[in-house]
Amino acid sequence: SAVRRYNFNVVMKSTTRLCSSKPIVTVNGRFPGQTLYAREDDTVLVRVVNQVNYNVSIHWHGIRQLRTGWADGPAYITQCPIQPGQSYLYNFTVTGQRGTLLWHAHILWLRATVHGGIVILPKLGVPYPFPAPHKEVVVVLGEWWKSDTEAVINEATKSGLAPNVSDAHTINGHPGPISNCASQGGFTLPFQAGKTYMLRLINAALNEELFFKIAGHKLTVVEVDATYVKPFKTDTVLIAPGQTTNVLVSADQSSGKYLVAASPFMDAPIAVDNRTATATVSYAGTLSSAQTTPTNPPPQNATAVANKFTNSLRSLNSQKFPAAVPKKIDHNLFFTVGLGINPCTSCKAGNGSRVVAGINNVTFVMPTTALLQAHFFNLNGIFTTDFPANPPHVFNYTGTPPTNLATTRGTKVYRLGYNSTVQLVMQDTAIISPENHPIHLHGFNFFAVGRGIGNYNPKSDPKKFNLVDPVERNTIGVPSGGWVAIRFRADNPGVWFMHCHLEIHTTWGLKMAFLVDNGKGPNQSLLPPPGDLPKC
Ligand code: C2O
Repeated sequence: SAVRRYNFNVVMKSTTRLCSSKPIVTVNGRFPGQTLYAREDDTVLVRVVNQVNYNVSIHWHGIRQLRTGWADGPAYITQCPIQPGQSYLYNFTVTGQRGTLLWHAHILWLRATVHGGIVILPKLGVPYPFPAPHKEVVVVLGEWWKSDTEAVINEATKSGLAPNVSDAHTINGHPGPISNCASQGGFTLPFQAGKTYMLRLINAALNEELFFKIAGHKLTVVEVDATYVKPFKTDTVLIAPGQTTNVLVSADQSSGKYLVAASPFMDAPIAVDNRTATATVSYAGTLSSAQTTPTNPPPQNATAVANKFTNSLRSLNSQKFPAAVPKKIDHNLFFTVGLGINPCTSCKAGNGSRVVAGINNVTFVMPTTALLQAHFFNLNGIFTTDFPANPPHVFNYTGTPPTNLATTRGTKVYRLGYNSTVQLVMQDTAIISPENHPIHLHGFNFFAVGRGIGNYNPKSDPKKFNLVDPVERNTIGVPSGGWVAIRFRADNPGVWFMHCHLEIHTTWGLKMAFLVDNGKGPNQSLLPPPGDLPKC
């Protein structure tokens, strides 16, 4: 194993998209940011130097951070933010993982422009469990606002209303040849006929699940969230913010140009959305004047396409990569996830109310000291350990919403013993409107053992759980008007954030944290914090 060193200078950079320019927060002046490369078992050292006027922190999304929660990155959860002029050295080892992940800012809405890929290659000499591709390409999907994103969210927080949606989606930073600024072109993916390519797809968008398609080409899915899956062919990939998907593409056309499209998926559309990002696959030897073969992205509410993709995912569960699904469960949890409405005296535009979100009716309040520090140093009064294992009252979650839509507020965590096992059913509620929630758990991969539409039935549904080869991942969509069941083993001591990866829902409070105790054995405790850990 090796040590990989990176310098991440957080700097402002004037950037032009959609034919207009604005200063954005970047790492090393790039949008999207550079890809971080490592091999399984390597140690990664990233020095983040904050040279902007915002507080900053960076999260290595999907890296397990075994015993190194101090390097996880969510501001006020595992660390205080890096203040302007300050720096922090993220120090972690990539243990037992290989595949595609992403890094992103984990404070305010800075991840709109502060994000990039993470590629963890297998250990030297270890092949992929599929034929090696001719080339690998990182493809980062994102969103672009013409206005300042911090201003967008600040305005929404003041008014209590929903924020403006972005002006475009992007593929490797560009809205593409079919956009409001066609002159800027877009990302081009060069193909050589007869070769196979692996695309490492990353959804770094703030608020949109996306469909991804390439005209005239099938995609073979081989990995999601840095875990191998049983390969399957599809026209369309569904990818939620925070998720990653590796696909193999055979360049089985002889020549020509083919449109690549990333378009939004939302099966409870509140507004019509046509922000399709485009890019171009171009075969070697194709004339630049050649017509591009078009593709039809699925409509925004194509639930059947989304379900078909999701239901095709199975963990590889091979001898080398067995699916270690917990069978005996210590903590049986049922969380409702959804939106609500709280009174707000200052919210004039919102008529005295504001949109909130919660888990089991708790709207999470961000602390002013990092929870992990409070936990490690036994500071009192920062959080409570009474996060409810069940909703406060049972109702028909997918039917008529209850009359009281208010949530309670608090910085509550749910406590787990070291190595205990968890089954967590997350039920979407129809309060306000049903919506998909891509839920991300820090510090763990989990197995997605069940999924259904309607109300979860604790008697009959568990009988249908897949405990053999359920897909393993770190971010999962709770379907609109439905539920998912996940299982994981709490083998990572520390404080681990769990939240909706639609940034607006996180802002509204759809988040909580698990506190995992130290074990008694050797190597079962959270390591002490590094000396340069930022102070609040
Ligand atoms: Cu990718 Cu807590 O986030």
